[in-house]
Amino acid sequence: MKITKICCIGAGYVGGPTMAVIAQKCPHIQVTVVDLNVDRINAWNDPNTDNIPIYEPGLSEIVAAARGRNLFFSTNVEKAIDEAQVIFISVNTPTKTYGKGKGMAADLKYIELCARQIAKIAKENKIVVEKSTLPVRTAEAIKSILDNTGNGVQFQILSNPEFLAEGTAVTDLLDPDRILIGGDTTPEGEKAINALVEVYSSWVEKDKILTTNVWSSELSKLTANAFLAQRISSINAMSELCEKTGADVNEVARAIGMDSRIGSKFLKSSVGFGGSCFQKDILNLVYIAKSYGLSEVADYWEQVIIMNDHQKRRFSNKIVQTLYNTVADKKITFLGWAFKKDTNDTRESAAIYVADDLINEQAKISVYDPKVSRSKILSDLDYLATRSSTENENLVQAFDDAYAACNNAHAVAILTEWDEFKTYDWKKIYDSMQKPAFVFDGRNILNKKEMEAIGFVYQGIGS
Ligand code: UDX
Ligand code: ADP
Repeated sequence: MKITKICCIGAGYVGGPTMAVIAQKCPHIQVTVVDLNVDRINAWNDPNTDNIPIYEPGLSEIVAAARGRNLFFSTNVEKAIDEAQVIFISVNTPTKTYGKGKGMAADLKYIELCARQIAKIAKENKIVVEKSTLPVRTAEAIKSILDNTGNGVQFQILSNPEFLAEGTAVTDLLDPDRILIGGDTTPEGEKAINALVEVYSSWVEKDKILTTNVWSSELSKLTANAFLAQRISSINAMSELCEKTGADVNEVARAIGMDSRIGSKFLKSSVGFGGSCFQKDILNLVYIAKSYGLSEVADYWEQVIIMNDHQKRRFSNKIVQTLYNTVADKKITFLGWAFKKDTNDTRESAAIYVADDLINEQAKISVYDPKVSRSKILSDLDYLATRSSTENENLVQAFDDAYAACNNAHAVAILTEWDEFKTYDWKKIYDSMQKPAFVFDGRNILNKKEMEAIGFVYQGIGS
């Protein structure tokens, strides 16, 4: 089967960039991205592609070139499903906030709604692709809904997890380490797998396209995220020990990373990992393991989250202790709010939890992030529901300029590793701050000796 029409349900951080790159690399395929969120679709269709709703280096250029040619953004979900041969599901699968599995299991209500909608509309055979990260065996549930509520047409379900990281989404998509496609081992399943392999092979070498059974593909995505997050928690555990022993975690990371069996990536000690995937996927893994009675497996992976929570709390405690055990009414400036550089995404960002702790201590928080708005910062804090929105509004200020944000502050805390922070005139910032002036570098991006030479009391992570 030759694919000429693709639909993607969900125009978010995964669906948007992935479909833009497919459209760019496969001009013969018409790609339509649909979403229920009208504002989001309008933003994707904004004549000025700098205003698309997701900031990713290189993305607006790709959208500018492909949009209107073979890339379309629409709220007409039914029409797009009806016309497509392949339907990608890229909707959100947050951690459940209610009922059984609350705080652990993935909430599959959006996935189920999609499956029901596809079943209702499809009048011809279709390939349905799971793009969102899902618990292992979700494909089975999707298949059951499609087969039982559909119009008697045949559906093939494929799992094709996305491994892109935010901030580098475009380069990850253009030059992936691998593409993973899981499907049924029946002849129809293999046909569907081959059709999707054909799409990716427009720009990815065939030997980088792995095909597996559905369950292996679903579980590989959770496993990859669990392994990556585990490396960060492992080095963060060492950072605490480094602080006690006089070792320097950056030196330790470098020394172990040169061992080719370990490798140097994902060994950067930080205030803690954030993002929409790591915590959610590990909680999900823990939940699945528990549901099969595998308590040792569950406890093993849960420790990665426990360590990450500890690291965030340790950072806020360190700020309070260093500032003479009180931050009440003190101005503490956060440089960075996004969960990592080069993205406007703030989901599960360490900044939110550190701010929450410090506000509990009655600190006044000022924030500068090059890509995050004040309303987003406030809605992130409101989501924690620790205090009223009015209180958050009174205690948190946001600035468009880092120097203004730091003016008169007692301490600056670096929460995101934005490159521009390294280029600042730190002497000027020092001169404008209360003395002694403290810097808590939650990303280890500044040079301790240089900061101390200016006069700062500087504390990084793990040294
Ligand atoms: C992750 C996976 O990398 C990606 O393959 C998957 O598809 C989705 O989840 P993402 O969450 O976008 O991607 O970003 P990632 O670069 O993995 O960073 C996650 C968090 O870990 C960030 O908060 C980052 O700052 C932190 N991190 C990363 C560290 O603290 N230290 C490191 O060495 C690397
Ligand atoms: P991700 O990071 O996984 O891409 P996002 O939250 O950024 O997650 O994007 C998911 C998108 O899916 C949201 O824009 C949401 O509006 C959309 N969505 C959820 N359910 C449906 C649905 N049934 N039909 C269309 N769009 C949906």
